[in-house]
Amino acid sequence: MMSDTMTYLVISVCLLFLGDVLADNKKWLPDTNFNNPKNWSPPGIPCGDAVVILPTTLRVVYVQVNTTMREMILPVSGELILGQNMNIGFTDQPQANCPGGDVDFDAGHMESWLNPNNWCNASGRDFSCDLQQPVLDTERVPCNFDSVIFPLDHLFAVDMSESFNVSLKSFKYQRVTYTSTSDLRRYLNSTDGRLLFHTPEGALPITIDRNQKCQYGKGCPCGNDKPEIANLICAQARCNPVKCYDVIRPVGSCCNLCGVVFNITVGQDFNLQNFRTEIRSRFFASANDSAIVVTTSITSDNFVQLLLTDTTGDLSKDIGRQIEADLQQDIQLGGLIFNIKDLTVSFGSPVNSPQRGHILNTREITGISVAVVAVVIGTTTVIILIVCKKQGLKITMPKLSDLPRLPRFPSKGPRPTAHVTPGFFFQPHTSPHIDPGFANPLYDTATPLDDNVVFKEMKVMGLSEELPTFDTSDRGFQNPMYGVEQPLSDPTSVDIKHKAKDSSI
Ligand SMILES: *[C@@H]1O[C@H](CO)[C@@H](O)[C@H](O)[C@H]1NC(C)=O
Ligand SMILES: *[C@@H]1O[C@H](CO)[C@@H](O)[C@H](O)[C@H]1NC(C)=O
Ligand SMILES: *[C@@H]1O[C@H](CO)[C@@H](O)[C@H](O)[C@H]1NC(C)=O
Ligand SMILES: *[C@@H]1O[C@H](CO)[C@@H](O)[C@H](O)[C@H]1NC(C)=O
Ligand SMILES: *[C@@H]1O[C@H](CO)[C@@H](O)[C@H](O)[C@H]1NC(C)=O
Ligand SMILES: *[C@@H]1O[C@H](CO)[C@@H](O)[C@H](O)[C@H]1NC(C)=O
Repeated sequence: MMSDTMTYLVISVCLLFLGDVLADNKKWLPDTNFNNPKNWSPPGIPCGDAVVILPTTLRVVYVQVNTTMREMILPVSGELILGQNMNIGFTDQPQANCPGGDVDFDAGHMESWLNPNNWCNASGRDFSCDLQQPVLDTERVPCNFDSVIFPLDHLFAVDMSESFNVSLKSFKYQRVTYTSTSDLRRYLNSTDGRLLFHTPEGALPITIDRNQKCQYGKGCPCGNDKPEIANLICAQARCNPVKCYDVIRPVGSCCNLCGVVFNITVGQDFNLQNFRTEIRSRFFASANDSAIVVTTSITSDNFVQLLLTDTTGDLSKDIGRQIEADLQQDIQLGGLIFNIKDLTVSFGSPVNSPQRGHILNTREITGISVAVVAVVIGTTTVIILIVCKKQGLKITMPKLSDLPRLPRFPSKGPRPTAHVTPGFFFQPHTSPHIDPGFANPLYDTATPLDDNVVFKEMKVMGLSEELPTFDTSDRGFQNPMYGVEQPLSDPTSVDIKHKAKDSSI
């Protein structure tokens, strides 16, 4: 007993220097990049024979590769952003090893902030996803005290319109780390912010408090297990079938699990990190136990939850009984080792209720009537792209309501498409020292493009991920308001409007 107490003291002293080691970095996973094979159906980056179809739900697609295709079908609204020096070519020559056919861009729709599958725990130094992801679905979504990272050189369509609350430590995107709510609010209300992040009117669901610390040692309650948030998260979680008869449903889990869950009432001087260390060194020292995943968390009503899970739950139950005996003994002796006061344990009960999580069908339906309108836009857009500018560019397509009325096409038969002359190749051409190299009907003419069509040059994003400036100290932090450029365009300074010629439809 004495030596246990000594260990405890030594550990507490070390921990004084660790700060709030218990908060994580959560990284956003989906993107709307053209060259992400997962964004296409069938999967794979479109090749020369493909007819590329951008969905009507499109918000933004980021083309950061030189690419060739047969045709491209554009939606009535949405943005297509070309990276620096990127070309899109069109061809009708058969391409070797290209299956061709229609290729749908699947990543056009918004992805919910509250979908646990959209995040990974990236708490390591290089911000790659950790192999061991949080077991509790609610902890896979950013918790209070966490920092969030949106990877550099990716674009997104993030839906934050659901009703939730989270207080983050920081929010990082494109080399800028937002460390105050007002800075983040300003960014999210900018043109680029509004394009990538769909926020509700009025109150922002995110606040940033970089000085918040979990109560020292006690650990940080994630906060997402509050029913009003957990229900939204669980509506999007996916559950795997379990391989046990007696299931547990820990706080914060959307799914039934196999194993043991402890609900612990703690004492005044409880220290979560010490508790973890004690449990680990006493019960999980042998490598044979690696099949068991051990999770400790603080619930929003301030109980400590200790969860042991494995595939069938049998290994967890064996060790769970030993842990229970030890904890009970410690409670009787006054909680000297673990500093806990009370305990309830669940070894599971037969499945009775269906799991809350379900499998979502993420593919959205695209409508033919909008594809008809896309003919006009498609043609216009291609012309616009010819005259486009030296660096990246960004095209905002007109809203449906702004378009001329079109006759309705029958909903059967061949799909209307934006046809582009075979062999045609476009690339940004207006650098003064580069000759356009082909007769461009709009080049050098005074006829402006359609009022509805706005295009802008954008400052081009860097092409490599640099190691982020992260919260390692209280000062010396990158302040987004000083000396850091807006990640995308600043439209107020570079808007260029043109009027379009009448489309020959
Ligand atoms: C795309 O093509 C342009 C012009 O041919 C070239 O300058 C650029 O380096 C290419 N980009 C990539 C990523 O290959
Ligand atoms: C996230 O990863 C870190 C480092 O690997 C780990 O210590 C932490 O427990 C993980 N967080 C969760 C909620 O699993
Ligand atoms: C968010 O927090 C505020 C104050 O903390 C509270 O008034 C509001 O009801 C919360 N909203 C949700 C959806 O939890
Ligand atoms: C967002 O920006 C617009 C101007 O672009 C401004 O009128 C509006 O007040 C801003 N909204 C908020 C919540 O800051
Ligand atoms: C945990 O135990 C406390 C005290 O016994 C109880 O109030 C609370 O509801 C329990 N939580 C769960 C999830 O069982
Ligand atoms: C680990 O497992 C092997 C067989 O699976 C067993 O022979 C060995 O005794 C175990 N070691 C410990 C420390 O439990």
